[in-house]
Formats: sequence, C-alpha cells, structure tokens
Amino acid sequence: MSNSTHEAVMTEEVLENLILSKKGLYVDCTFGSGGHSSKILEHLDKEGKLVSMDKDRNATNLLSEEFIKDSRFKIINDSFSKLSSYIDKETAHGVLIDLGISSTQLDDSERGFSFQTDGPLDMRIDNSQGISAEEWVNTASKKDIEDVFWILGEDRFSRKIAKKICETRIKNPIRTTKELSEIVISAVSKKSKKHPATNIFRAIRMKINEELEELYKVLEESSYALCFGGRLAVISFHSIEDRIVKRFIQGKDRRYSSINFNYIGDKFIKPSLEEIKKNPRSRSAILRVAEKVM
Ligand SMILES: C[S@@+](CC[C@H](N)C(=O)[O-])C[C@H]1O[C@@H](n2cnc3c(N)ncnc32)[C@H](O)[C@@H]1O
Repeated sequence: MSNSTHEAVMTEEVLENLILSKKGLYVDCTFGSGGHSSKILEHLDKEGKLVSMDKDRNATNLLSEEFIKDSRFKIINDSFSKLSSYIDKETAHGVLIDLGISSTQLDDSERGFSFQTDGPLDMRIDNSQGISAEEWVNTASKKDIEDVFWILGEDRFSRKIAKKICETRIKNPIRTTKELSEIVISAVSKKSKKHPATNIFRAIRMKINEELEELYKVLEESSYALCFGGRLAVISFHSIEDRIVKRFIQGKDRRYSSINFNYIGDKFIKPSLEEIKKNPRSRSAILRVAEKVM
C-alpha cells in the first residue's frame, strides 16, 4: 500500500457553505482519507452527527483514533448510491460528495489506477466485486473500447488506441498498467505536454466503477435525504461530471426526483491560486453548492 496522503480540496469553501446548524446531521459520501470529515466534525457541537461513506474498504477499515473515539461519527463501507439505505428521508442538513479517487488510491501501484507506476491493471474502487480493468481491456469489443475512450475520455485518438489494444491482446493479454500505457504511447502519433494515457486511464476507471451512473444515483438519493433548507455540496474534477451536477441542480435530466434546488452564492467555486500552488491536484476541482427548497 502507498504511504501517500490525500489533501482535502477546498475545505474552507465546503465548510462555509455546507454547515448551517452545528447540531445537524451531515453526510460525507466520500470519506477517502477523512480530510473533509475531520473538518466537519471540528465544526459540529456535541449534538451534531456525521455519517461518512466510502466503498473502498481500505478507506473505511483504517480509521484513525480521532474517528474511532468520536461518538458523533459513523462510518459505512458501501456505495454512495445506496445512501437512502442508511439515511432517513429529509433528515440530513448537508451532504458532501467529493468525486473521483484519492491521492492515496492513485499513488498505490497495487490498485492499478496510475500510468505513472507499474502494477496490476485493476482500477476497481471496491476490489471485492465487479470486473477489473484487465478483464475489460482484454475482453471488451473494439467498438465498446472506442466508445469509452471517446465519450468518457474525450480522446481524439480513441480509435487508434482501441485498434492497437485489440491487435496487442490477440498475441498477449494486457496485464499491467505499464503495458497498457506503452500501448497507448505507441498508438498516438502527436506528442503533447499531457501524458497520452491520462484520458485513457481516467476513462477506463470511470467505466469500471460506473462512476457516472453512481453520480446520477447519489444526486437523486441526496435530494431525498436532505431536509428542506439542507445543502448539497459536490466537488467534481471533470467537465462530464460537473455538467451532470449542474443539470441536476437546474432540475434537468432527473430520473425520479422532482425536488428543487437553489444555488448558494456563485454557481460554482474554484480553488484559490494559493491552494492550487500548495496542492496542484486541486487545480481542476469545481465545487457547486445548492440548497433544497420547497
Ligand atoms: C476524492 S476522494 C475523497 C477524499 C476525501 N474528501 C478526503 O478529504 O480525504 C473520493 C473517495 O470517494 C470514494 N468513492 C468513489 N466512488 C464512490 C462510490 N460510488 N461510493 C462510495 N465511495 C466512493 C473513493 O473510494 C475515494 O476514497
């Protein structure tokens, strides 16, 4: 496992906008290394409560003393799309969703999320179920691979990369992050500043973990869990996710929820230059906060 730690993003902005009542019930859907959860607990008084979720067992099993000893805190190892199994309707004062994966997960070569280190091609956030990236890359049809790279990766070389993957896997199954990264590099003709595997790895991770489907579900679930006046705060790192959040707040693309939200303050908040300097991984973050209204 990696020793890398995750730096919580836009903590001040989240707390300022999320916490209305210090006695309220809050939900952190994405516990990760507990950076936001820790700050939320600091801001609550002794009657406040925090329920945190994460579907990665490594995150929920390795709780620090700070959390274990705090009777206001409860941890749940499950997908945030199952929020309503744990939180009663209209009881939460605030729901926080900090999308994606943590630096701890990204930097752990055994998890297979990164093209920067060599490791097994896994990429499952919950590695006890579902298919791994290795299985998908070696079995999906060329068309499916192209579509994932084009739609989720928005990569203009999606066809060439999918073709190269299919040609390679006939000879030898693709097993590691390094093998996949080398295939991507060899398929891409133009050199750019960004590593050519950046979009491709992110797209495969989003596909394997059904991240967009999970996002649609958690937004709907949050709208029921929140009380009127309660706040939804979502941090996303990618324009596809941000568009889903924005449209949900606007009342568009809903599946069943008809609950209204009003933006709090500006429609979106970006990290300060100071934060980006201290934590370059925060640079693509976008925070949207909205209040549930009648
Ligand atoms: C960006 S990190 C959160 C970091 C956290 N806010 C902190 O301060 O350390 C995202 C976390 O969400 C978790 N996650 C991603 N998708 C999830 C899902 N569908 N259900 C529950 N947890 C999920 C990941 O395992 C990861 O730990």
